[in-house]
Amino acid sequence: LDNGLARTPPMGFNDWNAFGCDVSEQLIEQTADYLVSSGLKDAGYTYVNIDDCWQTHSRDAQGRLVPDPAKFPDGIKGTADYVHSKGLKLGIYEDAGTETCAHYPGSLGHETTDAQSFADWGVDYLKYDNCNNNSDGTRADYVKRYTAMRDALAATGRPIVYSLCEWGVQNPWEWAGDVGNSWRTTGDISDSWSSMLNIAKANMPLASAAGPGHWNDPDMLEVGNGGMTDTEYRSHFSLWSMMDSPLLIGTDLRKATPQTLAILGNKDVIALDQDPLGKQATVVSSDGGRYVMTKQLANGDRAVALFNAGDQAQRIATTATAAGLPHRGGYTVRDLWSHTTYDSAGTLAATVPAHGTVLLRVSAGHTSRRNPPLLDTG
Ligand code: GLA
Repeated sequence: LDNGLARTPPMGFNDWNAFGCDVSEQLIEQTADYLVSSGLKDAGYTYVNIDDCWQTHSRDAQGRLVPDPAKFPDGIKGTADYVHSKGLKLGIYEDAGTETCAHYPGSLGHETTDAQSFADWGVDYLKYDNCNNNSDGTRADYVKRYTAMRDALAATGRPIVYSLCEWGVQNPWEWAGDVGNSWRTTGDISDSWSSMLNIAKANMPLASAAGPGHWNDPDMLEVGNGGMTDTEYRSHFSLWSMMDSPLLIGTDLRKATPQTLAILGNKDVIALDQDPLGKQATVVSSDGGRYVMTKQLANGDRAVALFNAGDQAQRIATTATAAGLPHRGGYTVRDLWSHTTYDSAGTLAATVPAHGTVLLRVSAGHTSRRNPPLLDTG
């Protein structure tokens, strides 16, 4: 959507994966505090997003949505003011149906009123879900319901990132480029290797739909929630960054381990996701669970992921030219998880642990003045 927003994929936090309906002003404000004190704000995480269950079960006498006063004693406005005072932005959740997924009032038929409430409260981001939608199941109906809220948001004049949550129904990558700033490409993620892997595979072929202002969304991060190993979480974060996905932290940051923070805070990996060119990675090869992906970067570098979806360690290899780099006498390779740099004559290879990812940033030419022998860690 060409509204000037989300020129790189949105980054921030959303409470759903870790807390479900247990959302509150206190959680949102403590998370905002923690984003600042941990350095994650400085690493780019900006949006603090409220998911479902923030409302009461009925609209007020004027037909407006009502924040639950027990969960949000200062309302969404007061919560937004606090989040803004920390230099962060506030996101909220609604639904393009009669009720949200958790059965709170939906926005279908109330788009103008609700968009105005969001703008009045100081909301900066809307996730717009698809439950209880009364749909006739046609693409036209999806376009209509999601376009109605796009236009209502635009009419408020407030810049609000618009995130479509239609679970990949009706192939949004084919029609949502000028409707939303992102669209979900699949059903909901859960905190397991198989869920993460299946979603990653479904999102991989959709690279041509993504670009500044309009991103594929393979759902929010599960990093830190305990259902995967840290090796698997590094793959999750590597793949999401390679695929220019929104990076929405979905764990309880107040209890995050140093390992979790090291994954979420890896600035070299985040730089791939936030690269201004906005090119989602494509798959070079994928035989035997050995995935090679390449991502074009604004400065001419390529990011290369050697992702092992298999259950045994295996060697994964490609070449700099296969990854899209120009022919040169040599290349400089930076390993973005081990933080090592080495030279290569052209081979990009590593023995990758089961479910692991070796993530490389490759430049044509040597940065060091050292002569061969060149190192090849394969
Ligand atoms: C749907 C969405 C989830 C979450 C829940 C809330 O399942 O896909 O991301 O927002 O609704 O009820």
